Amino acid sequence: MTARNTPHDGAETARRLPASGAPRWRRTLLALVIGSFGVLAQAQDTAATKTAAIASANALATEAGFEVLSRGGNAVDAAIAVGTALSVVQPEGSGMGGGFLAVIHDAATGKNTFIDAREMAPQAVSEKDYLKADGTPNRDTSLNGPLAAGIPGMPAGLAYMAGKYGKLPLAESLRPAIRLAEQGFRPSGALLRSIEHKADVLRRYPASAAKFFPGGKAPQAGDLFRDPDQARTLKALAEKGADGFYKGAVAKELVKSVRAAGGTWTLADLAAYRAKERQPIVLDYAGYKVITAPPPSSGGVAVAEMLNILAPLDLKSMDEAHRIHYLVEAMRRAFRDHNEYLGDPDFVKMPLDMLLSPYYADGLRQSILPDQATKSAWLPSVQAKAPGMHTTHYSVIDKDGNMVSMTATVNTTLGSSFVAGRTGILLNNEMDDFALVSGQPNAFGLIGGSANAPVGGKRMLSSMTPSFVIGKDRLAVIGSPGGSTIITQVFGAILAFIDGKDAGQITAQKRIHHQFLPDRVDIEKGSDIPADVLAKLKAMGYEINDRESWGNMNVVVWDKVTNVKTAASDPRNPDGLGKVEAMH
Ligand code: DON
Repeated sequence: MTARNTPHDGAETARRLPASGAPRWRRTLLALVIGSFGVLAQAQDTAATKTAAIASANALATEAGFEVLSRGGNAVDAAIAVGTALSVVQPEGSGMGGGFLAVIHDAATGKNTFIDAREMAPQAVSEKDYLKADGTPNRDTSLNGPLAAGIPGMPAGLAYMAGKYGKLPLAESLRPAIRLAEQGFRPSGALLRSIEHKADVLRRYPASAAKFFPGGKAPQAGDLFRDPDQARTLKALAEKGADGFYKGAVAKELVKSVRAAGGTWTLADLAAYRAKERQPIVLDYAGYKVITAPPPSSGGVAVAEMLNILAPLDLKSMDEAHRIHYLVEAMRRAFRDHNEYLGDPDFVKMPLDMLLSPYYADGLRQSILPDQATKSAWLPSVQAKAPGMHTTHYSVIDKDGNMVSMTATVNTTLGSSFVAGRTGILLNNEMDDFALVSGQPNAFGLIGGSANAPVGGKRMLSSMTPSFVIGKDRLAVIGSPGGSTIITQVFGAILAFIDGKDAGQITAQKRIHHQFLPDRVDIEKGSDIPADVLAKLKAMGYEINDRESWGNMNVVVWDKVTNVKTAASDPRNPDGLGKVEAMH
């Protein structure tokens, strides 16, 4: 009945008649049509209104989401099930030792909200821990081991979401993940490659070696991989909510193991962690509402700036070289501001009114030369004196139209590679997302200044940009991993959706990226941009860089006129699963 990346047959049938998602006059018309077609029309209506769609980076996680929906859960419960399942089956991307950002849409009230479960710096954070004796950045402490880890936000964020917006108790939504951890699963190729890639660092820490090299050996394709320690920690969370992680036995084990390996966490750091609910950024573009992530993400501000710069331009009438030119110049200007102004809103005063204003965008647009690349060095900025990636995104729409767009991360592949004692929890290396050394690039080449300097209790800036794009007749749930390229991927996906592309086309679209510094345009290897367009861009003064590594986008689209939902996973990732299924 279901097929990967294709609508459910019922939804296909529904294509012929609009159903309850349609405006009132259409519904009235529909009722008349149903009257004359009887059972057939009713069946179409049922199948159409009761489909749910999920796209995630791993088939087992997508199935976990549907399992929870079938037990009466809503989109929030499904997102929790997907996220916790990914903590088990895709630990290279995200997990309970990391954090997430999510936008949530409540169909009944039309309200959109934002959950900030970003990691935070421990109180004893000190810049000197991230410097070598000669004063140069120490990439090892900022990326590997417990000093690299911020206080996790994921468990608190999930507990908060379940309590306020879920229909099921948290314990119900954690069931599939606990089962996967206890009974085991066949690891994906990506997980096997990640373990191999990080083997040296994982083997430094006994609990990491025990988890990822069971019996002393790297797991092989087809092996059953179990994670009983994480299952126990998930059960503590299921039984006691956030306190099961941030207080009591799990907290003690986290702190003990982190400190024994040179980290600074305290029980007070863990007990102080809170997920925060914030107002999402909302803007209008081309007749659509874009609902996206506010600080401590830089993504939403940057996407809003880019869209505001482009708003009055007629991109369709431009030749391809000029269209790319304007996209790239919008990216350059947004990333300049990203580096300069953005950080944790609870610590930094940010000129958001200015950055989000169309008047500010007018000025930025006027500074774009029609036929020539701007040099980043011409724009005043924080100046740069410039590694595998991971993270994960999932998109969910339930049968009632509730939606969750959620991006979760442990930062780079397998985070800090540090598993905290017997908790089974792999800690993030998110401290590297701070501007640990002012003016020095992080793992994604991003530079920052005082706005993103590390301070105890502060959240590091993120590029994660979970978003909704809501039009009169169509809407999309969008997001991706990819470090700094998340922002430009989401930007490109919003434009593609507004251009009428479907979920599959949006995820497959070739990508373009500029982040102010380094001053070059990254174009996806194998891109279909013709050679003469590239030549024109070079003549305008662009340095073009073939880039191999891009994110792993998961998109759900709902066409409200036909009432068809489609879900698509990035074709760059063979483990992903976008799926639409009828729900009862
Ligand atoms: O929050 C951030 O911006 C980063 N920690 C995300 C890292 C990431 O996407 C790695 N990706 N492929």
